[in-house]
Amino acid sequence: MSRPLTATVDLEAILSNYRYAKQLHPTCKAFAVVKSNAYGHGAVRVAQYLEGDADAFAVASIEEAIELREAGIEAPIMLLEGVFEAAEWELCVEHNFWTALENPLQLESLLALGKPIEKVFVKLDTGMHRLGVSKEVAAQYVQTLRESGLVGEVLLMTHFACADDLADLTTMKQLTYFEQARQLIGGIEASVANSAAIMKWSVPEGGWIRPGIMLYGISPFAEVSGVDLGLKPAMTLTSKVISVRNVAEGDKVGYGLSYQAEQDHQLATIAVGYGDGYPRAADHGTPMLINGQAAELAGRVSMDMITAKLSSESAQGLAIGDDVVLWGAGVSVEKVAYWANTIGYELVTRMTSRPKIVYRDDESSL
Ligand SMILES: Cc1ncc(COP(=O)(O)O)c(C=O)c1O
Repeated sequence: MSRPLTATVDLEAILSNYRYAKQLHPTCKAFAVVKSNAYGHGAVRVAQYLEGDADAFAVASIEEAIELREAGIEAPIMLLEGVFEAAEWELCVEHNFWTALENPLQLESLLALGKPIEKVFVKLDTGMHRLGVSKEVAAQYVQTLRESGLVGEVLLMTHFACADDLADLTTMKQLTYFEQARQLIGGIEASVANSAAIMKWSVPEGGWIRPGIMLYGISPFAEVSGVDLGLKPAMTLTSKVISVRNVAEGDKVGYGLSYQAEQDHQLATIAVGYGDGYPRAADHGTPMLINGQAAELAGRVSMDMITAKLSSESAQGLAIGDDVVLWGAGVSVEKVAYWANTIGYELVTRMTSRPKIVYRDDESSL
């Protein structure tokens, strides 16, 4: 038997979540954000499945974009951070990539190349202070790009710092600044909304939305799960029990002997660890399912293994070969992330290459 750790990815769920994002903003086109290997779900397979439905894809680097083109993706692909060096512009022209543009070096090197680009999204810094320029500089960039005759369409984009916090007024302030910039520039299409904004904020209609985490059925909000938001979870991470023992009250378990049994109970050892992407920071009590029964982490996460017990004090019957759901169907990735003091984004994105990925549409694997 090979190591039983498997991430099962439901491509149909990702498509359905993409369609849901578009339904929420019927006047908008939507990038399917597939950067970072489609948040750990496999960028090529996800893009191949969405092609035909997705208006365009968005990635973080030219390498990610080229990987999709080489896999046969013909839809437009956008570089969310633009080019990192001048030489990339040639590749953008060759592969017809769209780009963000947010600094003078990107602007000058595009003008110096003098070749046509279909769409450029000038990035406005509306308050996150990570990428982008002020509204006055953005207006100059837009004018320069339009006058250059090199760009088919110039658009204006920004990114929200706090859209996942509905009580925080920063998003309103960012939207106000964005509208001021649009007034300064005059008619220009917009792209502002990530998943949180798509689902909960009032954003400009028309233009482009940029759903990422919601495509994978994961909530961007700390207090609500993807399922509560009407999303379909796309990834279920499963493994099996590989060893079972009885521990007595007072026995200690695992590295550092950090878990101590408060009573006699069975203990299961499961094939998953931080070498697979299961978070080492997951605390005792992190939920999972063993043979459909509520279970919880008991002991520190090792590189290849974890130890767990059934949550009900009276429960018995653990056996080698029992099925374990680590997250996905029945145990939300958001809840596991909460117990590991992180967010669902990080858990799925930092999966390593060790877990086998099985795609539910055709049961093939990578
Ligand atoms: C510029 C940009 N747009 C959209 C997204 C998608 O965000 P989310 O995954 O929260 O939907 C990201 C992700 O970080 C991003 O950097």
